[in-house]
Amino acid sequence: MHLLLEIPLVFLIVLYSYLEAFLKLFFPAKKKSISGEIALITGSAHGLGRATAYEFAKQRCTLVLWDINKDGVEETAEECRKLGAVAHAFVVDCSKREDIYCAAKKVKAEIGDVAILMNNAGVVAPTDVLSTQDHEIQKMFDVNILAHYWTIKAFLPAMMNNNHGHVITVASAGGHLVAPFLVAYCSSKFAAVGFHRALTEELSALKKNGVKTSCICPMFINTNFVKNTSSRLMPTMEPEEVAKQVMKGVLTNKRMIFIPPFLKVTVMLDKLLPFRGAAAFMKLNELKFDHIVGYKDKEN
Ligand SMILES: NC(=O)c1ccc[n+]([C@@H]2O[C@H](COP(=O)([O-])OP(=O)(O)OC[C@H]3O[C@@H](n4cnc5c(N)ncnc54)[C@H](O)[C@@H]3O)[C@@H](O)[C@H]2O)c1
Repeated sequence: MHLLLEIPLVFLIVLYSYLEAFLKLFFPAKKKSISGEIALITGSAHGLGRATAYEFAKQRCTLVLWDINKDGVEETAEECRKLGAVAHAFVVDCSKREDIYCAAKKVKAEIGDVAILMNNAGVVAPTDVLSTQDHEIQKMFDVNILAHYWTIKAFLPAMMNNNHGHVITVASAGGHLVAPFLVAYCSSKFAAVGFHRALTEELSALKKNGVKTSCICPMFINTNFVKNTSSRLMPTMEPEEVAKQVMKGVLTNKRMIFIPPFLKVTVMLDKLLPFRGAAAFMKLNELKFDHIVGYKDKEN
């Protein structure tokens, strides 16, 4: 089509999208059923992963729970069983590619094809960048982003063959906005957001529209992941509350899930406002969390 014809068409699509979003405020999107699906959640021994496992159990999914923490992941599985779901616990170190491939082989052989994959395991080291140990930086990238590649390499082929499935990427507010003393963490989460967006485009280009994707971007959650968190505009949330919003977004195939939803406004302002204005707006939020500053100016 000629560019001059295509440009007004794009404007019409933009208008239609706004209208659709407005109508959705009054007529919520239909929720899909995931009953009987095999759902795998990494990092499900604690926090958001555990709380979301309970939500999947309530939806009658078969759960495959991965974590490095044996006791924790077994407790989560037991609780899911009490909620009426079938649950399998595996000890997997998501910072190790071979561990992931080995566990994935076992899951496929013993349980079946995973239809819902939630890459949730995460690590953080809240320190100034120069004091962050090399192995800590490496671990943040291994767990927070590289593991997502190894799990999709293992489980996405079956989803693509069936043109059915859902890849859930747990990123963070720190995948859109930045904070001091979280340099490696934020960059790994920016990578996770990029991974989700590019994967979404690729599935669409390959016409695998039955494989859905969602990216979860929460503000602070009360899991002790980062200690003593506070922010003026968006208070620290309980994992159960965040898990409910994750499930609602997944069941309606929402692509980008900001929790709380107001976070989206902050992200938009950060992109739209001039640098100084955006910085002033971010300061309003008074973001606080425990961190270590090891860097000291050298005395001359
Ligand atoms: N807590 C927050 O404020 C917050 C905010 C935004 C995003 N997130 C993201 O949410 C996700 C879950 O965080 P959370 O707050 O529930 O933290 P959490 O510490 O309670 O849970 C993380 C889980 O990941 C597991 N894990 C860590 N390293 C692992 C490894 N190598 N292999 C397998 N499992 C491993 C831990 O054992 C733990 O069970 C993370 O990806 C985190 O980045 C958290």
